[in-house]
Amino acid sequence: MSEEELDLESLEGVGPATKQKLTAAGIYNVLDLVSRGPIEISDVVNIDLSRAIELVNKARVRLVTLGRIEKDFISATELYKKRQTIERIGTGSKNLDDLLGGGIETQAVTELYGEYGSGKTQLCHTLCVKVQTQKDQGGLSSGAIYVDTENTFRPERIVEIAEAYNLEPEEVLSKIIVAEAYNSAHQELIVREAGRFIEKERIRLLVVDSAVAHYRAEFLGRGTLAERQQRLNRFMHNLLRLAELYNVAVVVTNQVQSAPDVFFGDPTRPVGGHVVAHTSTYRIYLRKAGKNRIARMMDSPCHPEREVVFILDGRGINDPPEETPKRRQS
Ligand code: GTP
Ligand code: MG
Repeated sequence: MSEEELDLESLEGVGPATKQKLTAAGIYNVLDLVSRGPIEISDVVNIDLSRAIELVNKARVRLVTLGRIEKDFISATELYKKRQTIERIGTGSKNLDDLLGGGIETQAVTELYGEYGSGKTQLCHTLCVKVQTQKDQGGLSSGAIYVDTENTFRPERIVEIAEAYNLEPEEVLSKIIVAEAYNSAHQELIVREAGRFIEKERIRLLVVDSAVAHYRAEFLGRGTLAERQQRLNRFMHNLLRLAELYNVAVVVTNQVQSAPDVFFGDPTRPVGGHVVAHTSTYRIYLRKAGKNRIARMMDSPCHPEREVVFILDGRGINDPPEETPKRRQS
């Protein structure tokens, strides 16, 4: 795919003036047009929604012609073929990989939610290393982007995990692009810009840790709930489009809060409510059980709802040690 074919001006109806407006809003090529979608385009470039829809439709047609995305009506055979281009990133734990059907999928958004210390950030770190390994080791020989909203990314931890996998730590670090997001608007901006890096730096994993923390802190009180959900919704959809367009795995973390109206069962619920839940392709609930961690696959379209045990150790995520059979007492 050549740069000219993705050039905004190569689309009918886009002249230098429109191109300049689009570029100023961080929309650099035809891929960006599709990934941002018409509502956002009409907003940021200040054009009619109908014109934005027309523009995005043209961009879609171009990407279909280039074989970059599927046309709107495709046969189940074609869909089956497309789904075969999905790849997986191993987590470091065989149990967890089994739960996921082999690992974290590309072309999907995987939500990790759970209480503090349940291992969300540790799993994100491990994936940043694993994605760099070769296929036979559960990787995709590619780099990662880590959007850090809570200042919990630790390069030292990456070094430790890389060493545990006998990888060159310096090289592993150099293939992780870290973006610190200071507030929700900044976080949105970073993700809008991510497409360019994904393309250029051969990125196959995009982590947002945490996806909801800024929204939660900034939008307090019931009156702001609608706006918060709308912004989160747009953000999550942007992520999903990136995942599909660039064939990358997107992993987001989410905290839990207590649901005051639950009297039976587990009273914890992910923050962000339906918005995050509905946009995520897979949702994994993590919780602590002493030294162990338990992962549960929630409402997946194709996995049974079940639980597995894993641990956090020098390799990041790992399986619990095999139980040594107790010596028989004589
Ligand atoms: P919040 O972001 O607070 O919601 O939690 P989280 O789910 O992201 O938790 P995180 O992944 O940070 O897990 C923290 C736990 O990981 C700690 O309680 C430790 O048990 C473990 N951990 C963190 N760093 C290390 C490390 O360097 N070595 C080992 N072995 N364990 C670690
Ligand atoms: Mg964390």
